Amino acid sequence: MKHILFVASESLPFVKTGGLADVVGSLPQALSSNYRVSVFLPLYSSVIPKLKDAKAVVSFQISTPCIHQPATILKQTHDGIDYYFLQHQGYFERDGYYGYPDDGERFAFFNLACATFIEKVNLSVDIIHSHDWHAGMMPLLSRVVFKHHPNHKNIKHVFTIHNLAYQGQFPLSVAKDCLGLSDHIINDGSIRFDDGVNFLKSAIVYAHKITTVSPSYAQEILGVAFGERLHEVLRLRQYDLYGILNGIDTTFWNPSEDPFIPYHFDSETLDNKIKNKLALQKKLGLKSSENTLLLGVVSRLTWQKGIHLILDQMADIMGLDVQLVVLGSGEAHLEHGFRHMVEKYYGRLAYVAGYNEPLAHEIYAGCDLLLMPSLFEPCGLSQMIAMRYGTLPLVREVGGLKDSVLPYNSSDQSGTGFSFKDFSISDLYHVLRMAVYLYYHYPSEFEQVQRNAMNEDFSWALSSVQYAKVYDSL
Ligand code: ADP
Ligand code: GLC
Repeated sequence: MKHILFVASESLPFVKTGGLADVVGSLPQALSSNYRVSVFLPLYSSVIPKLKDAKAVVSFQISTPCIHQPATILKQTHDGIDYYFLQHQGYFERDGYYGYPDDGERFAFFNLACATFIEKVNLSVDIIHSHDWHAGMMPLLSRVVFKHHPNHKNIKHVFTIHNLAYQGQFPLSVAKDCLGLSDHIINDGSIRFDDGVNFLKSAIVYAHKITTVSPSYAQEILGVAFGERLHEVLRLRQYDLYGILNGIDTTFWNPSEDPFIPYHFDSETLDNKIKNKLALQKKLGLKSSENTLLLGVVSRLTWQKGIHLILDQMADIMGLDVQLVVLGSGEAHLEHGFRHMVEKYYGRLAYVAGYNEPLAHEIYAGCDLLLMPSLFEPCGLSQMIAMRYGTLPLVREVGGLKDSVLPYNSSDQSGTGFSFKDFSISDLYHVLRMAVYLYYHYPSEFEQVQRNAMNEDFSWALSSVQYAKVYDSL
């Protein structure tokens, strides 16, 4: 069996801020019948209480011009997968995960420590599969800096772009002093960007194969509009670039067994879904009404997600016979916007800030529609989870949203949700009105679309086969 080492900054069940953690948490399981998969992660403070019987595997020193620090690797097996955690109190045992002034140094250390770990411990790694910028230096380190070491010599590299908007762009000193790279590497054009060092660009240049998380996003990032200024670099690698749609963990996200929701249901027992709506309305102080259409948002509140379209259109949205529940934190002006609106639409609008796993499940279970009008969306998991819970996604036709939501077609009642094309308030509102109309005037058709959505297969079954093809091509 080939041994694949995932390198990432987050993974369920240990640490999650977004969909990256869902993917790194569930793809290894899907691959595990054909590959041995292990995962390498930082040991954040929040992870420590979750480790049960983790054992130290090895300790070593990382020495570059600006880093002289010890590293210890702990191992914990969970559900048959080996997880390796990089322990360093100063770099990772903090309140948060990202956004610190020394992120360049922290993740330079993370990449160096992973490469050194592979050198020190013979794990017989065949493929390193790195995810997002945090692990973006792995291909370069392994293929250039550590290339003479026998444990690195034959390793092949797959890199997955979950979000091109976050690139790990740092001053050149991170390359020279933290990573200890030679002037030759720094100046050959492969990692420099805007006179700094760019972790994501480095991965695009040095990985053997690059994947991203939906076929549409794989196309979109080759152009100026979505390429985040790396489209030219990506075009050079377009024949090694694959768009593979994410799956979700259909055991964890299962309305007929979900321990977080009060009433279980499936596509044949949608009446129980309504009970979840009533429970959610009660919990959040919304007016109790099983017949009122309940809209939901479960999201990081960032410009990427098109949240301001909802806020800007609030008067018209709330002019319809609907209630709205929003869960998420992020940009201050968006949080403030929802807080302000709650006062205005008391009893019809609920806003809960923060990251709240149980409430997210209750929202997916209790709502009728999920709004996801993203400006761009590499894949998106919320819309897939919503469909699994019979909550119809209303999405913009972009990236993975386009690839996973089939728009409702009134002529044959096909479709699994609703979609609009242009990133505009009026387009969002137009399709929302159509969905609301269907809900109130053609309830049996709305239910048919709910059943269509619930009967879709969003498991990893198909996509893990595509990853296997990429691995086996190396
Ligand atoms: P992204 O990774 O860009 O944030 P995705 O749709 O791929 O978007 O994944 C988001 C994941 O995070 C989903 O599992 C969603 O349920 C979860 N999520 C987002 N916001 C919250 C929140 N405030 N509380 C709990 N879960 C959340
Ligand atoms: C990123 C993207 C999201 C994707 C997730 C998992 O966070 O924003 O669209 O679903 O990664 O791949």
